[in-house]
Amino acid sequence: MRVFITGGSGWIGSAVVPELLAAGHEVHGLARSDESAARLRAAGVEPIVGGLGDREVLRASAAASDAVIHLGYNHDFGDQAGAGRTERGAIETFGDALAGTGAPLLFASGVAFVAPGQVATEEVLAPFAGPEAPRGGAEELAFGFVDRGIHPVAVRFAPTVHGAGDHGFIAELVRVAREKGVSGYVGDGAGHWPAVYRGDAARLVARALENASAATIVHAVGEQGVRTRDIAEAIGAGLGLPVASIDPDDVGEHFGWIGRIFALDLQASNELTRRRFDWEPTGPTLLEDLAAGSYFARAAA
Ligand SMILES: NC(=O)c1ccc[n+]([C@@H]2O[C@H](COP(=O)([O-])OP(=O)(O)OC[C@H]3O[C@@H](n4cnc5c(N)ncnc54)[C@H](OP(=O)(O)O)[C@@H]3O)[C@@H](O)[C@H]2O)c1
Repeated sequence: MRVFITGGSGWIGSAVVPELLAAGHEVHGLARSDESAARLRAAGVEPIVGGLGDREVLRASAAASDAVIHLGYNHDFGDQAGAGRTERGAIETFGDALAGTGAPLLFASGVAFVAPGQVATEEVLAPFAGPEAPRGGAEELAFGFVDRGIHPVAVRFAPTVHGAGDHGFIAELVRVAREKGVSGYVGDGAGHWPAVYRGDAARLVARALENASAATIVHAVGEQGVRTRDIAEAIGAGLGLPVASIDPDDVGEHFGWIGRIFALDLQASNELTRRRFDWEPTGPTLLEDLAAGSYFARAAA
């Protein structure tokens, strides 16, 4: 297949690209800078110059492809509404370009919020709908495309896609711990975060591209829920810092933007995904990855 990927130069995308190439696909990727274009080219991807807001570039690239994998996202946590609008615009554009083709449109999402103590499954629809919702309500929008002959597939990644070189949420928690001199957890630390090893997630994306039915929710989740207190303790051990409870009222002040995410109790299963895609996570667990040390070596550099 000729596959158009956005975010192919990013943390997850750069692991997905080799999986796609190994499966024999021809990959074209959106690049918003010369540096990203060079990175894509070096990885065997044909770069297409443009940004996520360049609707004509997205439309033409999708229309010329047999499938779209949309992993690009502007992670500006100071402008989440703007990022949501860009996301919605990209999904709308892909929908228009792919209407009537039946071409797969895989797009990144996050595991659904459920009540504390509950476990999100691949059958729980995201509670986010409409342009003002987180991620621009993209899941609900895309699943509405099925009647237009489009094949939307939501790949919900665990809130931490971990591994050496990760610059995401765990790296931010490590940064905050270093800055504060303490590795904090929220309240009693009984909340959870699902986790997945980057290589496992990438393998799943490539498998879902070929095998997912329309309107499928894929859970790129290796572990259903790692206790947030265990995460804080592993970070404390890695940095040689004390570990302490942070009062829920002080979360914003202590952690900054990551606080409201670390305060969530999120659990997500992968049972249906493992069965549907014959996929088994084989990489290290989050705590194993933290014990391996790369998160702390990088922060100290
Ligand atoms: N990593 C996680 O733990 C995690 C968890 C849940 C969901 N997700 C979702 O999974 C997807 C991939 O995440 P990631 O961790 O790989 O993100 P990432 O490392 O931040 O990479 C983001 C990618 O998007 C591209 N991008 C950002 N803004 C762009 C713009 N305006 N125009 C064109 N390209 C743009 C970046 O290009 P440059 O290389 O040029 O910067 C990069 O390739 C995202 O939708 C993310 O929200 C990730």
